[in-house]
Amino acid sequence: MSDNLVVIDHPLVQHKLSLMREKNTPSATFRMLLREISLLLGYEVLRDLPLTTKSIDTPLQEMDAPVLKGKKLVFVSILRAGNGLLDGLLDLVPSARVGHVGLYRDPETLQAIEYYLKLPEDMESRICIVVDPMLATSNSASAAITRLKQAGAQNIRMVCLLAAPEGVKALGEAHPDVKVYTGALDTHLNEHGYIVPGLGDAGDRMFGTK
Ligand code: URA
Repeated sequence: MSDNLVVIDHPLVQHKLSLMREKNTPSATFRMLLREISLLLGYEVLRDLPLTTKSIDTPLQEMDAPVLKGKKLVFVSILRAGNGLLDGLLDLVPSARVGHVGLYRDPETLQAIEYYLKLPEDMESRICIVVDPMLATSNSASAAITRLKQAGAQNIRMVCLLAAPEGVKALGEAHPDVKVYTGALDTHLNEHGYIVPGLGDAGDRMFGTK
């Protein structure tokens, strides 16, 4: 569909995603599955991280061993649902920095309104992984990415669980340099901006708020 879209269609991702989509899946199970899927998504999203070598001693000999190169990664969570993907990614890269962008969708206009922003320093030299389970209209993701660029970020990737074609297209137009990684590309958005077939409101499903 888009050059900037990667659908991570690993069977384990698809299976866990189907469990998450089911409306009767309890919040605790939903959170556990989201954490598990984030490990699988993270594996793909981070597969081209630059490496360098470091001299180490194994019990047998000295060797030049591969280690991650450069400044640490930053995972940027779009509150609140982004935090569900964050935990698993931090399991993979415990030393990563974490930023938060607080955005809510105006229910009438579906536009993103910012209420919180906290980012680490040196954004220009970090690979930024923006996380939000649902890429629907992409208004929130697009606004968050604009803020990251204003803070200096130059290398940005977006990770979500589900994406809608409308959101992928809009994000590609607004930020053609940002690759989107998703567990599935669903069919469309409904009139309320929800992804169909989707899984409902990810934040509510995670926290049992509805
Ligand atoms: N946000 C959600 O949580 N779910 C959707 O379907 C769209 C946006």
